[in-house]
Amino acid sequence: MLTGVMLIFAYLFGSISSAVLICRVFRIPDPREFGSKNPGATNVLRLGGKIPAILVLCFDILKGTIPVWGAYFLKIDPLMLGLIGVAACLGHIYPIFFHFKGGKAVATAFGTLLPIGLSLAGLLIATWIAIVWLTRYSSLAALITVGLAPLYTWLIKPLYTLPVSMLALLIIFRHSANIVRLIKGTEPKVGQKKSQ
Ligand code: G3P
Repeated sequence: MLTGVMLIFAYLFGSISSAVLICRVFRIPDPREFGSKNPGATNVLRLGGKIPAILVLCFDILKGTIPVWGAYFLKIDPLMLGLIGVAACLGHIYPIFFHFKGGKAVATAFGTLLPIGLSLAGLLIATWIAIVWLTRYSSLAALITVGLAPLYTWLIKPLYTLPVSMLALLIIFRHSANIVRLIKGTEPKVGQKKSQ
């Protein structure tokens, strides 16, 4: 019963599209219509600069962390914690409040993994920063980081390898358009204003 409530809460909380709401507050163009058309921090950075992008990033991370942490303190079964994390990400990707048109769930997935511990979070952040620093591609950094996340999780907390693998597959699938642009060489780099 409690697990079901938390699953629904995670999905509904994940469905709050912070990128759309924060862009409205800052009077920035709708991120679903402009730039990469993705309601996420990278696209908000492109369209509106650092402050709104950081706010979106923080809110999207919390959308993953709060349901999983809440479920942990409610002593919900560890395996179900993983599914609650997946539910939060599904909310971000297919938000019920925004016509089921959401983002790619990179920040929300990271948020769901934070309660696992700082070593995993540190590895994920270090990987993402290293790839952005080397290539200037946010999407490539996300793809490589989520690709390595199941391995990192298996090394640190093997119990969560299955839900983390599910999240990784979901996020890679959501980056299909980015993968095509990366192959064609048309993917915008971090700091570049418009997608080509
Ligand atoms: O986290 C999302 C990022 O990987 C790609 O965003 O806007 O370049 O499609 P975007």
